[in-house]
Amino acid sequence: MMNRNPMLAGMDACPPSIRVMEKLLKVVQQLSATHDLQSVMDIVRHSVRQLTGSDGATFVLRDGNFCYYAEEDAISPLWKGLRFPMEICISGWVMQNRQPAIIEDIFEDKRIPIGVYQKTFVRSLAMVPIKSNDPVGAIGCYWSESRTPTLEEVEVLQVLADTAAIAIDNIGYRENIASQARQLEEAIDGTLLAVASMVELKDPYTSGHQRRVGIIAFDIAREMGWDIKRCEALRRAAIVHDIGKIGIPGELLAKPAKLTAPEFALIQTHAQMSYDILKEIKLLLPIAEIICQHHERLDGSGYPHGLTAEHILPEARIVTVADVFEAMTSHRPYRPSLGLEAALDELTRHSGTLYDAAAVAALVRLIKEKNYQPPQ
Ligand SMILES: [Fe+2]
Repeated sequence: MMNRNPMLAGMDACPPSIRVMEKLLKVVQQLSATHDLQSVMDIVRHSVRQLTGSDGATFVLRDGNFCYYAEEDAISPLWKGLRFPMEICISGWVMQNRQPAIIEDIFEDKRIPIGVYQKTFVRSLAMVPIKSNDPVGAIGCYWSESRTPTLEEVEVLQVLADTAAIAIDNIGYRENIASQARQLEEAIDGTLLAVASMVELKDPYTSGHQRRVGIIAFDIAREMGWDIKRCEALRRAAIVHDIGKIGIPGELLAKPAKLTAPEFALIQTHAQMSYDILKEIKLLLPIAEIICQHHERLDGSGYPHGLTAEHILPEARIVTVADVFEAMTSHRPYRPSLGLEAALDELTRHSGTLYDAAAVAALVRLIKEKNYQPPQ
């Protein structure tokens, strides 16, 4: 192994054993597959002891001006979980000076405050910074006898610290990406809810309809065994499924009497309009496609395109069932609720011809066998 560190220039170099190299390689592989800090610390600590033959190992993280002994398996009494000011501990010295500390006899070294190790077995140690340029921590190993750690031991320690630094960075990047994805999802949810309420302002008779269809569609999909992510995406689509109604005259949406044929034809344009509104936003294109199809029927009798079963998205088929169920069971100013039984009867009578059979069966199961309470 190359003597890379100027602090180690005076030490005797000797080639690392194949066993050490093999073990190091395994550790690098393990660390690159690790997704959490605790596992990084566990792997490093065990490997340090195994590879250096030391009697104890420690994993310190920088916490402002303090050294946080995050993992510790040797010093008695245990320092694990404790914080010490940078100035009074050797890991602080390592981080502030950005170089290893190699101490043959801790009672003879001026950097070690008197008495710190008195109650412990520690007599000698080696400690290196994690990220030499801008240390975020340190890892060290201890021996119970006075001895000079070899160059190979210190170099092994540094390789482990460098690999731990990469693993810690990767965890940070992953957490960052996950948090950005969460924020984006929250922003999309907020935007969709705002859009949904805009439609409902215009059509107060269906106030809350889209939100309830979202919940029912989600519950049907869960009952059908869909994974949670797909159910969430379905719910997002369902809560804006009537967004196109924003382009329909308000007096028509609020008309208490039966619609004429031309009026009904105008209302029917809302499905295509829903698609047209959302299709420009690339992120929302899958939602646009689902809601465009929420009035299609399996036998091709629906609108806007008269699609048949195999061409209708599974998500759209579920929204359809939830939409019909919600519309029939809720009160409208121009008519009372048609009732649960009537809604289930309509759905089961046309299951497989107009409505998706699996979605209808899931909803019937929820209500008849699982005491499902539709959202209010
Ligand atoms: Fe609709």
